[in-house]
Amino acid sequence: RDDIVGVLQIINARGEDGQISPFLDEDRQVIRHFGISAAVALERAQITRTIFLRMIRMAELRDPKETGPHVSRVAAYATEIYKVYASRRQISSREVERQVDVLRSAAMLHDVGKVGISDNILKKPARLTPEEYDAMKQHTLIGTRLFSDARSEIDEAAAVVTVSHHERWDGAGYPEGKSGEGIHLFGRVVAIADVYDALSSRRSYKEAWDEDRVLAELRDNAGSQFDAGLVGDFLSIHDLIKSIRSRYPDPD
Ligand SMILES: [Fe+2]
Ligand SMILES: [Fe+2]
Repeated sequence: RDDIVGVLQIINARGEDGQISPFLDEDRQVIRHFGISAAVALERAQITRTIFLRMIRMAELRDPKETGPHVSRVAAYATEIYKVYASRRQISSREVERQVDVLRSAAMLHDVGKVGISDNILKKPARLTPEEYDAMKQHTLIGTRLFSDARSEIDEAAAVVTVSHHERWDGAGYPEGKSGEGIHLFGRVVAIADVYDALSSRRSYKEAWDEDRVLAELRDNAGSQFDAGLVGDFLSIHDLIKSIRSRYPDPD
């Protein structure tokens, strides 16, 4: 469609004598091929992103609680928590950049498995019965199945986040009852981001909790529900977290 996806800037080489050497015809050919490959790679990345955004919009149509602003906030909180964790572990900035990119998309997809949950349960205005709650828990397994034929790092991360964001540090979570570092880092990070956002937002069935109460809840559950180290990371950037919240407000 003749879209411009990027600009490739190439600087002439300098000879040993400091003279600028002009591009040769064969250089032009190599550059042309390189440009085409780069454009194909960029286009592929764009298509992947677009498909993920459509999946998220589809999930939003099914589950009105899983709104655009909610998934954007969860993704932004999760990547910021990960950055603090990574600096603590002295992970290289290159690696951090790569992981942040992958985690952002995967975190947005955490509840995409709810597309497979029936409306009677998803939209029930009252409390779920134990059987209904069990059915609801399946959204983790349905979600991970959507990415089981992983073709990219984002697919792999999405498979991990969907299945592990309701696991608990003490092993009392679902669906697998994994515990501690047996739960993938991305799952432990998204669990904190998702719960923080759910508590601090107004939902049809509850008011937003005030900030002190939300923070107390996270602190009280550090080491039982949540990875205590990651809760510490989260608390250390609380101002940044609040600024993210104001960047993605819920519609009234
Ligand atoms: Fe969930
Ligand atoms: Fe969520």
